[in-house]
Formats: sequence, structure tokens, C-alpha cells
Amino acid sequence: MTLLVPDTTARSLAGRDFLKEVDLTVEEWRSLVALAAELKMARRLPGRAPRLAGRSIALLFEKSSTRTRCAFEVAAHDEGAHVTYLDPASSHLGHKESVADTARVLSRLYDGIEYRGSDHALVETLAAYADVPVWNGLTDDWHPTQALCDVLTMLEHSAKPAEQITVAYVGDARNNVARSLLVAGAMMGMDVRMVSPAELAPGADAVQHAERIAAVTGARLDITSDRHRGLAGADFVHTDVWVSMGEPPELWDRRIALLAPYAVDDALLEITGNPQVRFMHCLPALHGTDTELGRQLASRTGRTSFEVTPEVFESERSIVFDQAENRLHTIKAVLVATLAG
Ligand code: CP
Ligand code: NVA
Repeated sequence: MTLLVPDTTARSLAGRDFLKEVDLTVEEWRSLVALAAELKMARRLPGRAPRLAGRSIALLFEKSSTRTRCAFEVAAHDEGAHVTYLDPASSHLGHKESVADTARVLSRLYDGIEYRGSDHALVETLAAYADVPVWNGLTDDWHPTQALCDVLTMLEHSAKPAEQITVAYVGDARNNVARSLLVAGAMMGMDVRMVSPAELAPGADAVQHAERIAAVTGARLDITSDRHRGLAGADFVHTDVWVSMGEPPELWDRRIALLAPYAVDDALLEITGNPQVRFMHCLPALHGTDTELGRQLASRTGRTSFEVTPEVFESERSIVFDQAENRLHTIKAVLVATLAG
């Protein structure tokens, strides 16, 4: 694994928010990746001093989560900090109390605030009113803690330096995970392909951000509906769910029709021409009928797998659980860099 920037740069992030990739310089972004790798190695060392002893953080979730919530909780616990978890049913946020008022109250009590919700403007407002760092745990536009994890995972699973790595995201490239991967890959100087039907291509704002960054880092970007062009030579094939949280369930039929050719199966991975290609997914994944949603969709559409087949998901090529573990180490890097400096 090749890391490019000493972790000391992460100190410049003390007291800062972590809302979207483009708020950071390339050096700051790369320093977080390096810090995450260092913290991952240090986790098992005996006798290490907790870096966040006596700190308290609030976790505000307006949408469901397994990985992000647990990663924040375990990262905080590992470093001696305390957490409070608030879901929509157990706080006044949005019902009786505004985001601005919530931010000012929580700032008096906590050293940092994580927020997951729909409208990205809400997390920006939260950060504007909070006196402590605010971390974006996913909005409709961006999922920066996921992108940080995706970058670390690719570096760990490749002998190449970041600038020689090719990642192809296939599927709904309009969504938060795809947009964040596009910008994060540009930050790392990678060859980044977004492979989707034109209707589901990343928004112009995300592409413009990525292009501006690529002009500095030398990243190569390709937004294409052509699977052969987008997948040729890829080291990593990444996908995500076809209908994201907060989108109407009625979209499923249209998305299945649009995205069926972009489902990750063995034939799609063969297009890469790379026997070493690795499969990535932010999770949760719909790869069969072992979930309520999978069964409902299967009984309605006759289709039994969606963005990825069970064969690929369970194969040697799949690194999705290494990726899931890295949510912990990368979120810990964000906490340590912004809280401890
Ligand atoms: N990948 C991810 O954000 O997972 P959760 O929704 O479980 O947090
Ligand atoms: N795009 C997905 C990511 C889930 C982690 C969603 O927003 O639901």
C-alpha cells in the first residue's frame, strides 16, 4: 500500500467539519487516508494512550444505519470518548426543534456532532450553527466517510500507487456513494470511471468538482454509459443499491429496467479483462432473497438478485467485508484529526 502524505498534515483538520470531500485540500484528504492506515495498525498495540479521553460526541441519525453508526461508536470507544445516539423518534430535531437550535444546544454539551439525513443543506446548516466539528454520516448528495474507506480499501488491495489504480463504479451513479467516490478518486489521482445509463449519470456539480481536482492531481475521469469502455482494465468494480434511502419504492421497476445491464455478475467482471479485479460495495447489498426487501422485489419482478449476484458477492474477488471494517478505521481518523488534531 502506497501512502503519499505524512499524517502530520491531518493536524490542520483540528476543529474542522467533515461534510464533503471538496471542503478538504488534496493534501488534507490524503493525510486522513494515511492517518486511518496508521490508526488501523495501532489498534491492536498494547498500552496505547486513548486519543479522545474525556470527549463526548452526539450521533444524529434521521436514516437507518448499521456500519456508520457502529463505526462511530466503536471508534469513539476505542479512543476513550463517549457517544449519545439519537434517532428521529428520540429527539425533537425536525419536529419541534430546528437544525440551527439543535446545533447550538448540542455544541454546549458535546465535542462533535455526526449527522445522517436527506437534504445536504441540513448538515451544512448544522455545521454553520455548531461551535464544534460536524461530520456528515451520509446525505443525499455525499457520503464522505464511505469514500475515505473506499480509498483506503483500494490502496490495501493493490500493489500499485494510487495514480495507477483504476476504479469503475457501475449502477446508480447519481447517488451519494458514487458522487463521493468520483471526487475522492480524483483527490487520489486515480483513473475513475462512472458507468451508468445517461439518466443515472453523476450530477454536473460533482463532475465539475472532480474535473477541477483532476486538473491538479492528474486523475483521469470518464463518465460513460458504455460498459466496455468503462470497465476495460479496471482494478476495482464498485456498485451500490439501485434505489437509495429516501427514494420512493415505486422507482424500483424503472431502476431495474435501466440498470439490469449494469448488474455486477461474472460476465460483467470479465469485461475488465483483469483476472485480479476486485468487487466492492458500500453495503447493505441486495444480492439475493434473504432479506425482506429482496423477497418482496423477487415476488413482484421475478428477479432474485439486483445490483450484484450472489456468486460475485460471495466470491474470492469480493472485498466487501474488508471495506466494511475500514469504515471503523477511517471514521476514527476523522474523529482523531478533527478532535485531537
Ligand atoms: N455503507 C453504509 O453507510 O452503511 P450503513 O447505512 O449501514 O451505515
Ligand atoms: N446510496 C445508499 C447508500 C447506503 C449506505 C443510500 O443512500 O441509501
